[in-house]
Parts: sequence; structure tokens; C-alpha cells
Amino acid sequence: MSDNDILVEVRDLKVHFPIRRGVLFDRTVGHVKAVDGVDLSIPRGKTYGLVGESGCGKSTLGRALLQLTPPTAGEVQFDGVELTTLPAGKLRTMRRRMQMIFQDPMSSLDPRQNVESILTEGLQTHGIGADRNDRRRIIGETLDAVGLPKWALSRYPHEFSGGQRQRIGIARALVLGPELIVADEPVSALDVSIQAQVVNLLDELQDSLGLTYLVIAHDLAVVRHISDIVGVMYLGALVEEAPSDRLYTEPLHPYTRALMSAVPVPDPDVEDRRERILLAGDLPSPANPPSGCRFHTRCPWAQPTRCADERPELRQIGASRVACHWAEQIAAGELRPHEVTAKITRPEGEGEEPGVVSAPSEPGSYV
Ligand SMILES: Nc1ncnc2c1ncn2[C@@H]1O[C@H](COP(=O)(O)OP(=O)(O)O)[C@@H](O)[C@H]1O
Ligand code: SF4
Ligand SMILES: [Mg+2]
Repeated sequence: MSDNDILVEVRDLKVHFPIRRGVLFDRTVGHVKAVDGVDLSIPRGKTYGLVGESGCGKSTLGRALLQLTPPTAGEVQFDGVELTTLPAGKLRTMRRRMQMIFQDPMSSLDPRQNVESILTEGLQTHGIGADRNDRRRIIGETLDAVGLPKWALSRYPHEFSGGQRQRIGIARALVLGPELIVADEPVSALDVSIQAQVVNLLDELQDSLGLTYLVIAHDLAVVRHISDIVGVMYLGALVEEAPSDRLYTEPLHPYTRALMSAVPVPDPDVEDRRERILLAGDLPSPANPPSGCRFHTRCPWAQPTRCADERPELRQIGASRVACHWAEQIAAGELRPHEVTAKITRPEGEGEEPGVVSAPSEPGSYV
């Protein structure tokens, strides 16, 4: 793939939030490593799906990519332009080309603004449209594109259903004519029946407008349909990345296998035979991540050597990139999963209890 085919290139991106204590003397006592060394590329016109448990750093990565949260380290190139060192004025101009859609349209739309005012605001900020009539024309086309009627313009966000409100959120992003849209859990707050409509709309808009997407979800089933590439995140880093079909048919990282085992299969026979891998314990704290492989405290395949003391690199295995020392041996069935007794540590030490994970007897047999 030539460089020109890559719209977004992220290199060793880190976002560490300081943890501060003290009233008189504001001290930094540690850092939440929300994003801790992520490399990824998003090809032009394609969809990158980013999945992982709540708290693993997906939203922070999305925001840091758009420079809405300043990265602690690393690079983000958008269409060949380095964003992390771009002067504020130039970044503002760039923003038009990179828009965001949020999970909860109600909290991201100003309840006192009607739809016309919501959509006009961005056009004015970025000086788009020659005059009022021209802006009206752009807004009219955008409403059409997201499937909202003209009368919506004079209405307020609370007058719409959840699905329609998300269409307003999409229209607000789209009206500026962006190339990249970061959609952070765009359907998580919607009824299941409405989710598919919104996902289909995003899909259609991509086809007709050539958009590039980063779609963030905690649910693998949601991103499957629209993603070309899927990245799986765990505690601030990618553990696996693969073309969508490959990831779902042949997950290689133990964490991906566990996530996949929680996705129901439509075929009832397969569903009956499907093995579930329940992960032991909660996500460890990103302020104090486990040593070595960050997944080793919960991994049913963890080995006595390497796992606890050597951080696995994301390395190419076939069409996938995988951060596991033992991925090949696990795929070949040479290593068997075992029970994991997790020590569940709560942030403030409020009680600790052991948890047990049940692992499949046959690796891979849940597919
Ligand atoms: N502004 C912030 N200040 C401090 N910690 C934050 C901030 N934003 C997110 N975090 C922490 O960073 C981690 C990742 O959060 P987030 O990116 O929201 O995860 P996700 O979107 O995957 O649920 C969490 O532990 C969260 O508490
Ligand atoms: S490196 Fe070890 S602990 Fe980490 S995923 Fe692989 S087997 Fe599990
Ligand atoms: Mg989030």
C-alpha cells in the first residue's frame, strides 16, 4: 500500500494522565497510562474498528488522534501532516477535515439550539458557505444524506428519538465535509433495533462520500459489520490487529479469543457447542499495569516463562499483528489453556476476593 493510501498514521502514541494528590502541595503521585504506545494506520476510505473493555483507553486514543486530548508522546499524521506539533491556528483549520461522533447525542447536542442552529454553527466557525442561502443549501443536502426531514431544522434535540438524535450528531459532523470521522461508541446508547439502522447509515455515507472511519465500540458484534480492519485494545495498547474477516474467524491473541467467545453465533448448533472463556477479575488499573504481558494476570494460556516479565511486541503473524509470546504455539494447540485464579484488586483496596476463570478444554473449539 503506498503512503498516499494511508490517511491516518499513529506512531507510539501515549497519553498519560497525572494523578494528583494534596490540597496545599499539588503533587503528582503517579500516572494513568490510558494509552501507552499505540501504532496503527487507517487506509483512506476504510473503517478501522477499535474494540476492548470499558476503560482500556479507546476514547482517549480517539481524542488524542484528533488532538482533543494532547498526547504525552508519539506522532499522529493526518494526510501526511504531523498534528502533534501543528500550531493552534493550523490545527483549527485541519479540524474541519476530522470530525467526531459521540455515544450520547443528547449530552453532546446543546438542548437550547435547534437543529438549524446546531448545523450552522460549525459552518460559520469554519467559514464554509458563501452566504446564508449557500449554507442553507449545504444543510439541506446534509439532512437528506442522514435521512432527516426538512422540518427537523426548526426542532430541538429533545423532540427527537434516540436514533434521530444520533442522525443529528452525524449531520453535525458531516456538514463540514470531513474526510475522517471518529465515531466513539456511536450506537451503544441506542436500542438494538435502531443500532443496525445507524450502522447502515454510516456504511452508506462512507460509500457515497468516500469517508474514512475510526469506529470505537466495546462490542465486537457492532464493529464486525462495517470494519475493514479491527484492532483489539487491552490496558492502553493494541494486543491484536487483523483484517476484519480474519480476526473473527481466527483470533490469535488469548484476549481476542476470550472476547470472541462472548459473541453469540447465529447458528444454533454452533452456538450450543461454543465454548465460553470467562475472564477472571476486573481490568487491572492502568495506573499500575501488570508487568510483562499486561494480560498475564487474566490469561488462561499464561506460561511460567516470559509472560510476567517480558512485554510482548505487536508482531506480524500472517495477516495479523499479535502481541503474545506464545501465539503460534497456542494456535497450533501445543499449549493448553488452564484455570486462572485472579486476585481482584480494587483501586482503593476495598476488599479482595479470588475469582476463577473457566477455560475451554479445546483451544479454538468455541468457533
Ligand atoms: N481526563 C482524564 N483524566 C484522568 N484519567 C482519565 C481521563 N480520561 C480517561 N481517563 C482514564 O483513562 C483510562 C481509559 O479511559 P477511556 O479512554 O475513557 O477508556 P474507554 O473509552 O476504553 O472506556 C481509564 O482508566 C480512565 O479512567
Ligand atoms: S504473552 Fe503470555 S500472558 Fe500474554 S497473552 Fe500470550 S500467553 Fe497470555
Ligand atoms: Mg470510551
